[in-house]
Amino acid sequence: MKDRIVSGMRSTGKLHFGHYLGVIQNWVKLQHEYESYFFVADWHALTTKYDKTENLKQDVKDVVMDWLACGIDPEVSTIYVQSLVPEIAELNIYLGMVTPQNWVERDPTLKDMAKILRTKEGANSQISYGLMGYPVLMSADIMMFNATAVPVGSDQVAHIEITRDIARRFNNIYKTEFFNEPKPLLNNCSLICGLDGNKMGKSFQNDIKISDTEEVTAKKIMSAITDRSRMRKDDPGHPEQCEVAFKYWEIFGSDEQIGTVRCECEKGLRGCADCKRQLGTVINEKFAPIREKRRYYEEHPEEVTKIIKEGSEKARREARKILDEVRNIIGMY
Ligand code: TRP
Ligand code: SF4
Repeated sequence: MKDRIVSGMRSTGKLHFGHYLGVIQNWVKLQHEYESYFFVADWHALTTKYDKTENLKQDVKDVVMDWLACGIDPEVSTIYVQSLVPEIAELNIYLGMVTPQNWVERDPTLKDMAKILRTKEGANSQISYGLMGYPVLMSADIMMFNATAVPVGSDQVAHIEITRDIARRFNNIYKTEFFNEPKPLLNNCSLICGLDGNKMGKSFQNDIKISDTEEVTAKKIMSAITDRSRMRKDDPGHPEQCEVAFKYWEIFGSDEQIGTVRCECEKGLRGCADCKRQLGTVINEKFAPIREKRRYYEEHPEEVTKIIKEGSEKARREARKILDEVRNIIGMY
C-alpha cells in the first residue's frame, strides 16, 4: 500500500509559473509515488472573498484545467473540489472542538493574511470567524484522508505544523492512534520571483500565467527587470545583479544556454532586449505542450466537469469511511 498525500490550492483562477514550479511540478512527480488527493479549496477562497463570488465557478474550473494541462493525471490522482465533499465540513467541526483558540491566533500565515486585509480594506477590516478557522479547516482537509504527507510550498508549512498539533491532540483526547501526524513535503526548486523582482502573485500583477498566450508571455518577459546598472547594450553586464531575467534563465535555460548568456552578458556582447526576446522563446517552447493540452480542455469543458464530478464522488466515498470511524472514536450517536 502506498502512503497517502493530500494537497490543495485555493480557487484563485488561472495559475501562474510560481504555482507550477513551486507546487504542481512536484505533485506531477509525486502522484506516482503516493496515493494522491488534489483538491480545489473553494471554501478557503471564501474566507477572504465571501463577498466576491461571481467568478468562483470559473475559478475552480481554471485551476483544474491548469492542473490537467501540467500533467496531473485523473487516472492516477483523485482530483476533487472541497465543497463537493461535505464530510470535510463535519470533520472541521470536530477538530474545531479540540483546537485551543490561541493555536489559531498564533498562526503566522493567518497573521500575514490579516495584515494584507488591513492594508486593502483599512483599519476597520474584520477578520471573520471563517478566516480564523482557516488552519482548522486545512487540518480537516488533510486529516479527512488521514494523509501522512502534504506537498506544499514553504509558505504553508506553519499551517501544517498546526495540523500535526491538532492530530496529536485529537489522538490524546480520545485515546487513539487513529490520525497520522502529517509532514510537509517540500520540493527543492528555488522560488521564482515576479517580473518586478518581488514575490510572484496574481494580485501584484507581476505574474506569467500557465495559460498566457505566447505573445503575452513574450511581452511580459520584455518587461522583466534586468541589471539596473547597465546603461548601453555594449556595457559589460552583471548576470548576478540581473534581478529577474537572468534568474529566469537559470530556471528555464539549459546549462549550455546559461553559460552562453553569462559569458556574452559579462563581455557586453548581448543586449538586454535581445536577451529577453530569446528568453521568451525558450520559455514558450517549454510551455508549448502544456498550453496545447490546456486548450484541449478549454474546448472540451464537459470532460473537465466529468473529471471533477467523478473525482469528488470518489473522494467522498473515502471521506465517508474515515468520518464514520471518527464519529465512532468520539462517541457520537
Ligand atoms: N492554504 C493553501 C493555499 O493557500 C490551500 C490549502 C487548503 C491546502 N487546504 C489545504 C494545501 C490542505 C494543502 C493541504 O495554497
Ligand atoms: Fe540580464 Fe541578459 Fe541583460 Fe545580462 S544581457 S543583464 S543576463 S537581461
